[in-house]
Amino acid sequence: MLEAYALAPDAFTSSVAERESLPIEWWASRVSEEAGAHELVVGSFLDAEVVGVAGLSFERRERTRHKATLFGMYVRSASRGKGVAKALVAEVLRQALASPRTEIVQLTVTESNSAAVRLYTGCGFVPFGTEPFAVKLGNRFINKVHMWQRVAERAS
Ligand SMILES: CC(C)(COP(=O)(O)OP(=O)(O)OC[C@H]1O[C@@H](n2cnc3c(N)ncnc32)[C@H](O)[C@@H]1OP(=O)(O)O)[C@@H](O)C(=O)NCCC(=O)NCCS
Repeated sequence: MLEAYALAPDAFTSSVAERESLPIEWWASRVSEEAGAHELVVGSFLDAEVVGVAGLSFERRERTRHKATLFGMYVRSASRGKGVAKALVAEVLRQALASPRTEIVQLTVTESNSAAVRLYTGCGFVPFGTEPFAVKLGNRFINKVHMWQRVAERAS
């Protein structure tokens, strides 16, 4: 993820400066497979090396726990254009569907990131608004498009 923040700074709200000093335990907790964890991370591997990642964060409050957020989508440059991201989104959506409370998956994407906007649109996400001035990078502002899709009709 530090590579992702360094090489694609416009795509992420997190920065290397913010994250590089975090202990390895913090990163390990993000990929914990503990039952009931409030987030999960899926990876794409070539041999033993990770080439792509994406996460899903589950809301925990009673009135918002029908929602989850896709985050941290990154594919290393040598593995791009081969369907890795599409497969990661499909797996995140499968995990969302398998999670009993989740009905909606949301995400935000940098407005100018046409590759990612196309990826998400192709995977069924629909934009529902653009947040102006969402992120400040140096003295530049970045707008974020908010997207969503319904993953399941849950019985109430
Ligand atoms: C955006 C990113 C995740 C795409 O990963 P990828 O594995 O190359 O994407 P895929 O090969 O699975 O492509 C899936 C779809 O995404 C879109 N897409 C991917 N790369 C694209 C590009 N360079 N230009 C236009 N569309 C692109 C296409 O719609 C593509 O479907 P198609 O091949 O049927 O046209 C990758 O470029 C990346 O990690 N970028 C830097 C970080 C980033 O922007 N993350 C998103 C944060 S919201």
